[in-house]
Amino acid sequence: MTRFAEVERELRTSPRRFLVTGGGGFIGSHLVERLLALGQEVVALDSFITGKRENLQQVLAAASPEARARYRLLESDLRDPAASVEACKGVEVVLHQAALGSVPRSLKDPLASHLANVDGTLHLLLAARDAGVRRVVYASSSSVYGDSAELPKREERIGRALSPYALTKRIDELYAQLFGDCYGLESIGLRYFNVFGRRQDPEGAYAAVLPRWISALLGGKPVAIYGDGETSRDFCYIDNVVQANLLAALAPPGSEAVKQVYNVAVGERTTLRELFCLVRAELARFDPAVLQCEPDLQPFRAGDIRHSLADIDKAGRLLGYQPEWRVAQGLAATMPWYVERARAQR
Ligand SMILES: NC(=O)c1ccc[n+]([C@@H]2O[C@H](COP(=O)([O-])OP(=O)(O)OC[C@H]3O[C@@H](n4cnc5c(N)ncnc54)[C@H](O)[C@@H]3O)[C@@H](O)[C@H]2O)c1
Repeated sequence: MTRFAEVERELRTSPRRFLVTGGGGFIGSHLVERLLALGQEVVALDSFITGKRENLQQVLAAASPEARARYRLLESDLRDPAASVEACKGVEVVLHQAALGSVPRSLKDPLASHLANVDGTLHLLLAARDAGVRRVVYASSSSVYGDSAELPKREERIGRALSPYALTKRIDELYAQLFGDCYGLESIGLRYFNVFGRRQDPEGAYAAVLPRWISALLGGKPVAIYGDGETSRDFCYIDNVVQANLLAALAPPGSEAVKQVYNVAVGERTTLRELFCLVRAELARFDPAVLQCEPDLQPFRAGDIRHSLADIDKAGRLLGYQPEWRVAQGLAATMPWYVERARAQR
């Protein structure tokens, strides 16, 4: 039996109260969904600055009445310290996802990113410490590797931050480690690498590449690739990220696995051009006309790193993380949601 299967079994037999910050967002809503399915009590906190009420409505609509009774929403903002105090009451495990994402957004407005990502996280850590929360699992990012050209990325070798967003995530890691050392608060940081899946927002100037492309292809609009198409990323399907969070949540207290940061990815590199071809082929099952579309190459964007590939050995060794989804499988599982959404909007 895999460690993940053990963790799921443990959760089913012993319910806990989880707080999911950013629960209305892409990743947070998947965590809420899985936790409710595993019989957990879930408090979701979100200000809905970028997240969507519909994300949680979809999760609840598919849940049983009994599961819905274990769910509570706090619509509040982590920039307000009182929000964390209220949210952490009686909570055993925090899965902290709330943040303002996007490198370009942070370059445009570094203060907004700092307030949400650093102040927000510090407020949460303080409240978690004071409420006696047993474990804080928090979202970090592959962007902390910054200008380090080394591949694959290993947790202990990071470079200089290339954006305010990357810096906020690194500061979060340092705060979390400090709270472990000074106050005994057990935390685990997860450096996500380009996550994708259902409910990732395709709208707006700061949308991630994959939903933006899918939306453009389905709408018959041009697909922009920044750079020459050879930029590469370690794209990671959402269910792998859910797995990593649950493993981190239940990693044995006091073990070597806690007070650490881990890469969360697949350990495979896909260029943007390859990704475009995979997405186009997958969408062609629903709309063959997309096969006519070719990408529109645009200048490189400031703050973007050229290549990214994770070494996931540490998460495998210490957490038992084994990604179950590769990119192509994840894309196949993701596409119907976007197609249905596009059809509903017509
Ligand atoms: N999606 C990725 O590829 C990726 C990669 C690396 C790291 N991450 C990190 O993972 C986490 C989740 O990302 P996501 O893709 O689900 O983004 P998302 O924007 O869909 O979700 C973030 C959620 O946090 C909420 N939020 C933001 N600021 C808040 C505040 N001050 N108070 C309360 N709620 C607030 C937003 O409304 C949103 O619902 C973030 O911390 C992000 O930085 C994501």
